[in-house]
Amino acid sequence: MNAQQTNHNDHHAHHAQRKTKRVEKLEWSDALLLGHGPMDDEHREFVQVVTALRNSTAHTALAALDAVEKHLIAHFDLEHAWMDKTGFPDVYSKCHRDQHDEVLGSVFQVHQLAAIGQIGLGAVHRLAQSLMDWFPGHADYMDSSLSAWINGKTHGGQAVVLRRNLVHEDRVPDESQAEAA
Ligand SMILES: [Fe+2]
Ligand SMILES: [Fe+2]
Repeated sequence: MNAQQTNHNDHHAHHAQRKTKRVEKLEWSDALLLGHGPMDDEHREFVQVVTALRNSTAHTALAALDAVEKHLIAHFDLEHAWMDKTGFPDVYSKCHRDQHDEVLGSVFQVHQLAAIGQIGLGAVHRLAQSLMDWFPGHADYMDSSLSAWINGKTHGGQAVVLRRNLVHEDRVPDESQAEAA
């Protein structure tokens, strides 16, 4: 990120990432589920394309950058469409959209420079790392409130998150086993 973007991030720090810690490995798990299925699908794909970028070689970096860029355009467009469709309050959506724009700006910049050979694999990997570091905070704070809002609008209730371990814990005991005991 350039100096201007860093300042812009600082400006938004009180809204968003209070603390960003380095993410060594971004792995998909049920802990990342937010409860709105189509958004969860986007986030699963985000983890895949960013991991591929982090692991890219000089030969695969441009294709991986292209995949990340295409994914983010679609992912962010979807979230913006959900905001518009459900009347997500401006006070939240402005900040959320600004974060998307900053991230996409960084990706465009690195992609363009890499495509003309102005930057190398190290810079591409640093972009991947910054996306890995950015995502958990954004998902926890911005996307989770959007997800809860959409679910509230569409189901008239709170977000329902079914995580595998919770489903197991809540499972009704098998009656045949109960009788045998
Ligand atoms: Fe998202
Ligand atoms: Fe988002």
